[in-house]
Amino acid sequence: MPVRKEVLEGFSKLSSEEKREVISALFDDKGVKKEFYSYLYNDEELRSDFLGFSENTISSYHLPYNVLPNLLLDAELLHVPMVTEESSVVAAAAAAAKFWFSNGGIKTVSLTNIKVGQVHFISDLEQSRLSELIADNYATLKHSVAAYTSRMESRGGGIVSMQLLPTVNEQYQLMVEFKTANSMGANFINTCLEELSLSLKAIIESAGFTCDVLMSILSNYTPNCCVKVAATAPIAAFDGLVRGMDANVFADRFKRAVDIASSDIYRATTHNKGIMNGVDSVVIATGNDFRATEAAAHAYASRSGKYASLSTCNLSEGYFNFELELPLALGVVGGLTSLHPLAKRSLELLGNPNAERLMSIAAAVGIASNFAAIKSLITDGIQQGHMKMHLNNILKSYGATFEEVEKARLWFANRKVSNVDVKKFLDGQRE
Ligand code: MEV
Repeated sequence: MPVRKEVLEGFSKLSSEEKREVISALFDDKGVKKEFYSYLYNDEELRSDFLGFSENTISSYHLPYNVLPNLLLDAELLHVPMVTEESSVVAAAAAAAKFWFSNGGIKTVSLTNIKVGQVHFISDLEQSRLSELIADNYATLKHSVAAYTSRMESRGGGIVSMQLLPTVNEQYQLMVEFKTANSMGANFINTCLEELSLSLKAIIESAGFTCDVLMSILSNYTPNCCVKVAATAPIAAFDGLVRGMDANVFADRFKRAVDIASSDIYRATTHNKGIMNGVDSVVIATGNDFRATEAAAHAYASRSGKYASLSTCNLSEGYFNFELELPLALGVVGGLTSLHPLAKRSLELLGNPNAERLMSIAAAVGIASNFAAIKSLITDGIQQGHMKMHLNNILKSYGATFEEVEKARLWFANRKVSNVDVKKFLDGQRE
């Protein structure tokens, strides 16, 4: 039954309990209020924390918390938490991690950690004079945010540079680069930018010119907060990886598949989605902002002016070199990282990495996911593994009993899984 459509007056002013009541009353199902309540934490403190993270919260939304075991990254053994609901993503990444575990592991090739923010403003002062004014008042500008930057500086962060750039006519931006140590730094950056904008306005106006600040905000495009990881092995390592497929044929087909994603936007988008299956799962498991990483990754994939694959594959002198490069603005302090009980556990499970290490880990799971997806695509196809893992969900959707599930697992162990076939199997059992 569809829920009733009613305008909800003063909803935000209600308590969480009252909001749950109001929303539940829109349903015909009388059990829904209890259901919404049941997904909240039992523990009072946790429940109250969760109710405080966002607004108008009436329940909690659960996702599976999974572990990718035995990821070898830069010779360190890691068991990586992955939050994802998608069947086969974890199994596929785990299979790839297992292969690379025996073939040298995944390695971090390069890493940068500079983030960016912008103060956009309108001024009647021409660009070269503005640049001079900013250069002359650089110390004043920096001093205006010292209250915020001094603590960050003691942790190795702070403002790295400030530069005037033109936007469009009479519109400019103060482009500020930051290092944010172990935090993602969004609040730090935005606070600094808003303070800087006041100081900038005062400087320009006291020189007799106009300055209308339009907005001050960090950029989620972080091409200089970027990590590159690689999986490299002799092509001969693929001997026996896929039954009936020669190692050179495998490597050649793999490279072709990656190359298609470098030139075709339709394939590139799906290819990069497969990478983000792994990356996002770690980003979410550690309480980081997956919308920011998604936005940055796809903007970075378009940096040449044409959207393309985030990974590359090269075959040279008998070697297979598979690389993934993407921007990742992650933190291990601040935000949800220590407030969400499982985000905290995730970081512990990873050995409490610093932010840079977490970038490498998320990227390594991304390259493992990408490797697994391409391996399936160029061999058995993606559906075989995916539908095997999806079998439980299909059985559940048909209300299968425990006994039917057990029988179905045996029946489909060596058979193709599809919605139609599972339904047929259950119908047969129920005749
Ligand atoms: C599915 O979530 C992801 C894949 O489509 C990625 C890819 O095609 O490379 C399998």
